[in-house]
Amino acid sequence: MTAIPQTFRAYVARKSERDGTPVMDRGVRDFRAADLPAGEVEIRVGWSSVNYKDGLAARIDGRVARIDPIIPGIDLAGEVVASDDPALPVGTAVLAHGYDLGVARHGGYTEYQRVPAGWVVPLAPGLTPRDAMAIGTAGFTAAMSVVALEDRGLNPDDGPVLVTGASGGVGGTALAILADRGYEVWAVTGKPDEAGRLTGLGAAGILSREDVAVEGKPLESERWAGAVDAVGAATLPYVLRTLKTGAAVASSGNAGGPKLETTVFPFILRGVALLGMDSVTVPIARRRALWDRLATDLRPRELGRHVTEVDLDGLDVALDGIVAGTARGRWVVRVGGG
Ligand SMILES: NC(=O)c1ccc[n+]([C@@H]2O[C@H](COP(=O)([O-])OP(=O)(O)OC[C@H]3O[C@@H](n4cnc5c(N)ncnc54)[C@H](OP(=O)(O)O)[C@@H]3O)[C@@H](O)[C@H]2O)c1
Repeated sequence: MTAIPQTFRAYVARKSERDGTPVMDRGVRDFRAADLPAGEVEIRVGWSSVNYKDGLAARIDGRVARIDPIIPGIDLAGEVVASDDPALPVGTAVLAHGYDLGVARHGGYTEYQRVPAGWVVPLAPGLTPRDAMAIGTAGFTAAMSVVALEDRGLNPDDGPVLVTGASGGVGGTALAILADRGYEVWAVTGKPDEAGRLTGLGAAGILSREDVAVEGKPLESERWAGAVDAVGAATLPYVLRTLKTGAAVASSGNAGGPKLETTVFPFILRGVALLGMDSVTVPIARRRALWDRLATDLRPRELGRHVTEVDLDGLDVALDGIVAGTARGRWVVRVGGG
C-alpha cells in the first residue's frame, strides 16, 4: 500500500557544522517517500502548526529532536490517501499530534506523512483541517487543562480564573474556551499591546507579566478559583500562592523557564493542587473524545481568526519567533491547504 509520490517537499532540519561551530541546517528540501517511517495510514498533509516545541526541535541547542535529520512539526491535519485500517478509509479528514511526531519521528512539515493508525484522530464534522491546526497541540493542551480543572469541580460560580502567557497558543486558547464557558477570566501577558485582542477573546481583566513575576510571601490573599499556566518560571509560584483554598492550577509549560521555586504551604495549608498536563502521551480514545469536544462545547471562541498563516518556506521566521517569545496567537502552516 502506498499513495505517496517517490519524492515530495518537506522542511528538514539537519545537524551540521560551520567553521567548527555546530549549526542546524534547515529549509525546504526534496524528501524521499522511502525515508518516511512505517505506518498503516498515509496522509496528504493540508495543514500543520507551529508550537514552542517545534521551535526547539529546529534549533541546534533545542534538545528536543531525537532523530537527525528531522522533519519537525508535532501536529498535522489532512486527508488519508492510503490506509491499512478499515476504520480510516481513503478520503477521511484526520489529524495526528503528540506521541513521537516531530520529535523521535518525522513530523508535520511535509506534503506527505505516514503514521500508525493508533495515532490518528478522524476530524469531527464542523472542524476543517485548518481549524484543527488553528487549535493544534497548544489548543488541545488548553482544552485538557480546562477539562482537568472542571473534572476536579471548578465551575464559573467559584470566582475568577487566571490564564498566563495569554498571548500565546496554550494561553490564548484556554482564555477563549473558559470565557465561552462563562468564567470570569483574567489574563497575564508580557505584551501590553495585546490587551485589546485578549479582551476580545473574553478576558475580564489583564495583569502584566511583572505583576506576577515578583517575589512574594509564601501565601498571599486568596484570589483565583483556578488557573491555566504554560509559563512556569516565576509565574507558577505566584499562581500557587494566590490560589483559593482547594483550587488547582493546570501546569503544561515552561515558556518562561523550567525551574520551580515554591514552598509547600499552598499545598499543606490550602489544599491547593498542581495538575500536570502532558498532551503527548494521552491515549487515543481520550484524545479522540477531547477532539470531538473541541468541535462542539469546547470549540474556542473566534477559532481561526487570530492565526498567522505561513507556508513551508516561511517556517524559519515562525520557528525562531515562537522560541523568542514574540508569538501572538497561533501560527498555522499551509502545506497542501484544503
Ligand atoms: N505539556 C504539554 O503537553 C504541552 C503542550 C503544548 C505546549 N506546551 C508548552 O507550553 C508552553 C507554551 O506553549 P505555546 O505553544 O503556547 O507557546 P507560545 O505560543 O510561544 O506561548 C507562550 C507564551 O508565554 C509567554 N512567555 C514567553 N516567554 C516568556 C517568558 N520568558 N516569561 C514569561 N512568559 C513568557 C508569552 O505570552 P505573554 O507575552 O502573553 O506573556 C508567550 O506568548 C511551552 O513551554 C510549550 O512547550 C506543553
